[in-house]
Amino acid sequence: MTIATAHARPNIALIKYWGKRDEVLMLPQTGSLSMTLDILPTTTTVELTPAHEVDTFILGGTTASQVETERVTRFLDLVRELAGSTTRATVRSRNEAPTAAGMASSAAGFAALAAAASAAYGLELDSRALSRLARRGSGSAARSVIDGFAVWHAGVDDETSFAEAVEAPPMRLVSVAVNAPRKKVSSRDAMRHTALTSPFHSAWVDSTARDLEEMQAACRAQDFTRIGELTESNALRMHAVTQSAQPAIRYLLPESIAVFNAVQELRDGGLEAYATADAGPHVFVLSQPEDASAVSDALASLGEVRIAGPGLGVRIEGQGTS
Ligand code: DP6
Repeated sequence: MTIATAHARPNIALIKYWGKRDEVLMLPQTGSLSMTLDILPTTTTVELTPAHEVDTFILGGTTASQVETERVTRFLDLVRELAGSTTRATVRSRNEAPTAAGMASSAAGFAALAAAASAAYGLELDSRALSRLARRGSGSAARSVIDGFAVWHAGVDDETSFAEAVEAPPMRLVSVAVNAPRKKVSSRDAMRHTALTSPFHSAWVDSTARDLEEMQAACRAQDFTRIGELTESNALRMHAVTQSAQPAIRYLLPESIAVFNAVQELRDGGLEAYATADAGPHVFVLSQPEDASAVSDALASLGEVRIAGPGLGVRIEGQGTS
């Protein structure tokens, strides 16, 4: 194949990944667990261009910056190494998620790029190999390869650090996009800075490993209440550890805290909902399917709301010879 297109969707971690133990292989310090969403897809086409001397990256219809293109080239180099190729490529990518605003677009982006590039270069990778490859682009992308709910095993090396599906009860995530500016610190830089400067980082790593075990047990038991409690407390601990770095990194804005408070009030009023947030100000609220509309209505005055269900992992949508 010389051209292939893939679709992938963002995922939101219910147990977060925040810290690497190997920055080259992108091995995390702990495992994590996520829901792949059925909204905000990224579509990426990779076309081999034997006549070109460099890779080209077109993002949302315009040529990407040098920094973004270099990140894509470094990723394509991994694919070329696996495929024994030196051919350059043109990558065209479109995503519906607000880029770099904490809506997990890098996860969908690298999952789609891993699938499209490996197909274009003629590799036949199974889900585990694809998850390992996507991980090299962005850690959380390892999980967007998988349908529905995924656990990303921390592993001990490249082979053992991959995501796979886990059973979980039916759930929805209501995304609440607050009116806020583009984030200033990337997850990658922020997690490195946190690990280096927060006196609480090792406690975060230890407690997250325990949270993940409990979360997997709660998923097996279909215990929505426990899943929700773990989701919210793990997220708040991640934000606590970023704020304990020196200098502090704060992703949650007053608008985000207002959503967490409103979710607490919903619970006090008997509507079960639990909040989480990634490296940005937007909040995602976990509920049971039958409560999602009520949760969404209750939070609509605090941001732009959307209800997401569990979505498909990465899919190849077309391939051929150009
Ligand atoms: C807060 O996967 O974006 O969303 O591996 O450096 O590319 P890199 O980081 P990235 O970090 C995601 C952090 C998070 C939590 C999570 O998704 O688990």
